[in-house]
Amino acid sequence: MENGAVIEAVCGRFVGRGSGTYPTIADFEYNEITIFSLSKKGFIKYSQGTTSIGDDTPMHQEMGYLRLGADQSVEFLVVQPTGLTEVSVGSVAILGDGSVEISSGCVPMSSPSAKAVRRIERKFTFDSLGLAYWISMATNDVFLSHHLSGVLTRKVSVN
Ligand code: HEM
Repeated sequence: MENGAVIEAVCGRFVGRGSGTYPTIADFEYNEITIFSLSKKGFIKYSQGTTSIGDDTPMHQEMGYLRLGADQSVEFLVVQPTGLTEVSVGSVAILGDGSVEISSGCVPMSSPSAKAVRRIERKFTFDSLGLAYWISMATNDVFLSHHLSGVLTRKVSVN
């Protein structure tokens, strides 16, 4: 598979909304801006920021790198200010309609003061109009369960 086609689909500035849920917390919604951009050295940088729907108060944010490997493999490295670090492995596929699907998962590292998270699974679908994503996690108290999903519109191509 040609990594160039994946880079073209993934890189962009995406704006939209997400919603969250988990067995231990109240449901919530948020605004989100996500950017995947190609550095001059060819690395795909990732940054995400969210705010509350009502008053735009900052909520979760995270940043990292998406690494495309051989044989449709991917590595997704994400650092969260809550003390979690993800070194995820997964795969990328180009579907029949040209959309690009990336799935990855990991056992994250939790810093000493972070809430312990035992597993994080992420899935993204990209097309020319935008991206959709789904995130599940497991904690010490809860088996792997859905936490977030979002639908974002592509605003600018960044590559
Ligand atoms: C992979 C990304 C994320 C991980 C691993 C994560 C992890 C967690 C964890 C471990 C909790 C505590 C659950 C509990 O107490 O049982 C939590 C709660 C929460 N998360 Fe996330 N989260 C992520 C992304 C987000 C995003 C993007 C938002 C929204 C903007 C968000 C909003 C919240 C809220 C509002 C709560 C409940 C209140 C709180 O504990 O702060 N999370 N999350």
